[in-house]
Amino acid sequence: MRIDILTVVPDLLEGPFSHSIMQRAKDKGLAEVHIHNIRDYSTDKHKNVDDYQYGGGAGMVMSIQPIAACIEKLQSERKYDEIIYMTPDGELFEQSTANQLSRLKNIILLCGHYKGVDERVRELFVTKEISIGSYVLSGGELAAAVVADSLIRLLPGVLNDETSALTDSFQDNLLSPPIYTRPADYKGHKVPEILLSGNLKKIEEYRENEAIRRTNERRPDLLKD
Ligand code: 6GU
Repeated sequence: MRIDILTVVPDLLEGPFSHSIMQRAKDKGLAEVHIHNIRDYSTDKHKNVDDYQYGGGAGMVMSIQPIAACIEKLQSERKYDEIIYMTPDGELFEQSTANQLSRLKNIILLCGHYKGVDERVRELFVTKEISIGSYVLSGGELAAAVVADSLIRLLPGVLNDETSALTDSFQDNLLSPPIYTRPADYKGHKVPEILLSGNLKKIEEYRENEAIRRTNERRPDLLKD
């Protein structure tokens, strides 16, 4: 999978993709992440990427010219399955969205900044709009990093234990059960006996019950459907 991220603050995105799982996915050739500075595509003599709003009002708007130039260049090189605009008014991002998107070959994530992009960018280029939650970030970059991370870890071969993405919280609309490692007794706080029993059937049953109990307690909304 190839992910192209378009931003006016590329520095914000350098960190998240140069560590652990993300780096491993890149090293193995399973994922490619390319970051593009929208400013590099501005034909403006001051390399501006934003301008005042028509009709007045506070806040700048990202101009269509450099965004269009960057997208068109990428489209001339390969076909994109989705061009996704990261915006708080987009569709709420869920595990099911991650699962769907992780099957695609090439996607663009366009990060909004300031007040957002000129509406015509959305009309002419964007095929999908994503929000990562009901709160406002100062730009789409951190949201794009969240989305890219969640997709890349689902690619076959990225995680060491291939089944481990399948047992994630949310994959079956359940939260994960509690987990433990050594010591079996920490200052009198003991690991549940069942987990030490070696009885795989009982352990499986315990985990499932705990997952349901936790979900009921913390996210009952996940159980309704
Ligand atoms: Cl995708 N962008 C911004 N700026 N804020 C957000 C968001 C995205 N998702 C939630 N809040």
